[in-house]
Amino acid sequence: MTTAAVQPALALEGPPDPELVRIRDLVYREAGIFHPENKLRLLSDRCGRRMKELKTPTLREYFKCLTANAVRGELVALLNEITIGETCFFRNQPQLDALRQIVIPKLLQAKSHLPLRRLRIWSAGCSTGEEPYTLSMLMLEEAHGRLRDWTVEILATDLNERSLEHAKNALYGTYSTRNLNPHYRQKYFTQIAEQLQVQAPVHNSISFSRLNLSDDGRMAFMKGLDVIFCCNVLIYFDLTSKRRVIQHFYNNLLPHGYLFMGHSESLYGVSDDFRLIHLPGATGYIKGERSPAGK
Ligand SMILES: C[S@@+](CC[C@H](N)C(=O)[O-])C[C@H]1O[C@@H](n2cnc3c(N)ncnc32)[C@H](O)[C@@H]1O
Repeated sequence: MTTAAVQPALALEGPPDPELVRIRDLVYREAGIFHPENKLRLLSDRCGRRMKELKTPTLREYFKCLTANAVRGELVALLNEITIGETCFFRNQPQLDALRQIVIPKLLQAKSHLPLRRLRIWSAGCSTGEEPYTLSMLMLEEAHGRLRDWTVEILATDLNERSLEHAKNALYGTYSTRNLNPHYRQKYFTQIAEQLQVQAPVHNSISFSRLNLSDDGRMAFMKGLDVIFCCNVLIYFDLTSKRRVIQHFYNNLLPHGYLFMGHSESLYGVSDDFRLIHLPGATGYIKGERSPAGK
């Protein structure tokens, strides 16, 4: 069969193809990502790409591919197509300044009585790695100051395998490095042709792994965290799946822990468990005591 035999996944007019709706629901159940009617065109295009690759002519057959394989290989491949990885180094400077100047000192104070001098930071939905590398550089800047004698561990997770491969290769072009100032550029990167390679000390504190935020089993194992960054990830989730993830974050954080989200995101209407904190030019959330009713 030639690729020309593959039908366009979605007609421009009329009600959505029921097979596409089944795929939409499968993606939602698997990864929490919801495609409303006005985003079905996008989903259809992504399915179309995979169908072309597999030479699968109809959505009905493609749905069978997605569900047939016990190890869910094709579903993983479709999720790699669907997930949007827009990111860059130093994406939200006021938030990062607040982390370094306000949150880290408070954390060190809260943990000063503990024998283990360790901070654990999680970049949940790290895409191609710019966010965890930014966090690592900030922590290295403090390594001879506030964080002397402290170990910093950065966990960086994402659903998208291709993004994680890119993150591990740590090679970046001009678009994602556009906010890097000369200090960071010179101190932590090596120029390779037109690209910048992250240097080893920035890597060393980071462990990258694939983690689906909708995987309750895996999420329950993420424990003992001081700070979670989950920025510009839950914007693709509906309220139900967002609440589930936030509930996990609450349990994943230590009692003094902080949660940071994207510039346009908030927990309003999602969770009352966290306390909103206003920082210069940014907001964050601190884990509060749960009410006795235990919402
Ligand atoms: C727009 S990027 C955000 C990257 C970075 N946090 C930032 O703010 O620059 C969103 C990332 O969320 C990831 N993502 C989407 N759904 C996910 C899920 N269910 N589990 C884990 N990661 C997910 C995507 O793969 C993508 O890399």
